[in-house]
Parts: sequence; C-alpha cells; structure tokens
Amino acid sequence: MNTSSATVVRVGIIGAGLMGREVASAFGRWFALLDCPVRPELVAVCDINSLALDWFRQVPTVKYFDTDHRTLLTRPDLDVIYVAVPHHLHESLYLDVLRAGKDLFAEKPFGIDLAAARRIRDEAVRLQRFVRVSSEFPFLPGAQRAITIARTGALGPLLSIRSSFLHSSDLDPTKTINWKRQNKFCGEAGVMNDLGLHVAHVPLRLGWKPSRLYAQLQKIYTVRPDGKGGSTPNDTWDNATLHCTLDLPGQSGIPLTLETKRMSPTDTNSWELEIMGTDAGVRFSTKQPKTLLTYARAKEQTWAATDLGFTMPFKTITGGIFEPGFPDLLQQMWAAYLAERAGQLGDRFGCATPDEAVAHHELWAAALQSHAEQRVITL
Ligand SMILES: NC(=O)c1ccc[n+]([C@@H]2O[C@H](COP(=O)([O-])OP(=O)(O)OC[C@H]3O[C@@H](n4cnc5c(N)ncnc54)[C@H](O)[C@@H]3O)[C@@H](O)[C@H]2O)c1
Repeated sequence: MNTSSATVVRVGIIGAGLMGREVASAFGRWFALLDCPVRPELVAVCDINSLALDWFRQVPTVKYFDTDHRTLLTRPDLDVIYVAVPHHLHESLYLDVLRAGKDLFAEKPFGIDLAAARRIRDEAVRLQRFVRVSSEFPFLPGAQRAITIARTGALGPLLSIRSSFLHSSDLDPTKTINWKRQNKFCGEAGVMNDLGLHVAHVPLRLGWKPSRLYAQLQKIYTVRPDGKGGSTPNDTWDNATLHCTLDLPGQSGIPLTLETKRMSPTDTNSWELEIMGTDAGVRFSTKQPKTLLTYARAKEQTWAATDLGFTMPFKTITGGIFEPGFPDLLQQMWAAYLAERAGQLGDRFGCATPDEAVAHHELWAAALQSHAEQRVITL
C-alpha cells in the first residue's frame, strides 16, 4: 500500500515557529509511510508574525496565510488544527479551535497550569471533539519495546523506574532569554511545563500514577541577556527531579523518578527510560536511538544490547537497519493521531490524551507545592 490512496485530512497550523515547521516537514514526506490509512494535507498556516509565514510559501498545498487565528478558523475546508504557540496562549486558542468545531492536535503542556488543562479537557469532552497532545518519544522502537516488555509482567516485581528528558544548552549563561524561560509565558512549572509530558506520558500510559511525591527544583541562573544589550529575569525552574512513589495493585512503595532538566551537562535532547524489576530490566536512551538494553537475572548479571533498527509502529520505506530520529518520531506520532481519529489505530500506541495531560499537570502542581513546603505531597 502507499498513502496516495489514503483518506485526506485537511490540517491548519497555528504557530509557525519551531514546531509548526517540524510538523509541516513531517507532512511533506508522508509518502515515506506505507500503511497509514490517512494522509494530512497542510492547507492553512497562521502566525501573528507575518515573516514566520514566509517559510511555508514553499509548501504547495498551503492556500491560506493568516495573521489572526480567528480568520484561519473561519476557513471552511479544515478538519484538524495543530496549535504550537507559547503556553500562556494554549487555553484561549485551544478553546477557540474546539468552539469552531475543529478537532485539535494540541502541543504540550496543554495549558499553562492544571486549572487551564482541566478547562480545555472539559470543553473538548462537552463538544465531543477529537483531541490529543504532542509527545513523540514513546514512538521510538526502543520505547515501544520497553513498553511491551513492561506490559507482559516479565520484569517481575518492580524495583525502580526512571524517566528523564535532559537538555544542556542553558548551561551557557550568555544564551539569550526566550519565552520558555519566563514564568508569565511558560508557566510557574517552568521546565516541567516545557519537558514534562515527555517523561510522564509512558508511566501514565502504563498505569503508573504516583500516590506521593517529593520534588527538588533548581533555579540556577536568575538573569539572562535580553538580546538588546541588557539583561532580564530568568525566573523559570531550570531543573526538576521528582521522587515519586507508586502504589500498584499487589505492590506498593515503588520508586519512580521523573527528571526534567535544562542544565544536564553532555545532554542535548536525551530522552531516557529505565525500568528495573527483580527478574529483568530495560533501559533505553536517545543517545543510542536504535538500541535497547535489557537485563535478565542470572548467575552473572549483564546488560544485553539489541539493535532494533527502524521498527516503527507504522511501516515506512526506510531501511530496517537505519536509525530513527526526531523527524521520524514526529511523523509516526501524527500517523497515530490521524489513524486513531479515523478509528483505525488498531493495537498501535496512541498519542497522549487530554486526561493524561491533566494528570501530568497534577504532578507539576504537587511538585511546586512540595518544593514550597519542603514536604512530601499526597496526590
Ligand atoms: N513536542 C515537542 O517535542 C516540542 C518541542 C518544542 C516545543 N514544543 C511546544 O510547541 C509549542 C510551541 O513551541 P515552539 O518551540 O514552536 O515555539 P516558537 O517560539 O518557535 O514558535 C511559536 C510561534 O507562535 C507564534 N505565535 C505567538 N502568538 C500567536 C498567536 N496568537 N497566533 C498565532 N501564532 C502565534 C509566534 O510568533 C511563533 O512563531 C509550545 O507549546 C512548546 O512547549 C513541543
């Protein structure tokens, strides 16, 4: 099969920045997919910065270039809207999309805080719109295999779980401020709002919702260059380590560590997952994007490295021994969104749900409270 015979879904993008362009690029090579039943066609783009729209003029399917999202939402031939704007705008723009009768692919963190996330989720339920939230790393072959192994119960009683997303570019104190480093745009949860769904998505999907947590939050540099010769407050949390406790049926007191860091030396975009049980364990890092490490209890205990290659949920033309990268994951995530929307996801992994996005905000709200009161918070 190829995707030329697939059902076409017409997409509009609001927010033509880093992620708006990434998504357009994922659509542009949709013919790499072999078995996706749906094909997106990018029809409209909106950004308040008209210069940001120029890059999209090379995309032949784009008919509308708008600078007001309300204009884009009046376009008759749009089915799905992807919104990739700063976090303080999520709630109002997401609600506008839903009330315009469109389905939504939302960017994380799905509202600037827990209250906003709940309001968006509740409106989506009321209006019965199909909504999912962007979180692409679980679509990696190593992550998919780790999830499958964890679901079989083959790991035995769980000893520990660690889920991390680690950056390091903020180590440079001369890096100019941007909206992601300012609470009023990024949200009080700071790095957790920025990177947090990436670490919470898999544990939540596996049913591992913490019952208690203690958070260590760090602000390292409190000012940054403003890009105009001066400096400006950098008031977001840079690093967050959440020490969580899982109480699962039949096993309580399991440690789950969620790490989101903008200052993690040597890490550029490291997404890591480690699940250790008494019988076996799995470890995966984007530092080795096609390789899964597994451990099995024996007389001598060793990690085995298995190269999984390009075993993606949706089949592609890409060689099976090749390495997956960020653009591939984004495309797989969108394939999952569109297939699920069409009722054709099957047993493949689905995108993060509004309920999962609300649940991840519950963690960050508890983390802020834990840090402020220096105590363990019960969820
Ligand atoms: N899934 C991921 O891996 C990933 C990675 C990076 C960012 N993100 C998320 O994507 C979203 C956007 O981040 P980004 O890195 O693309 O930001 P960005 O700053 O590169 O782009 C945001 C764009 O939104 C535009 N904008 C602002 N207000 C607008 C409005 N009212 N209407 C239309 N456009 C408007 C800006 O002009 C800008 O071009 C955020 O929610 C962020 O957390 C997700």
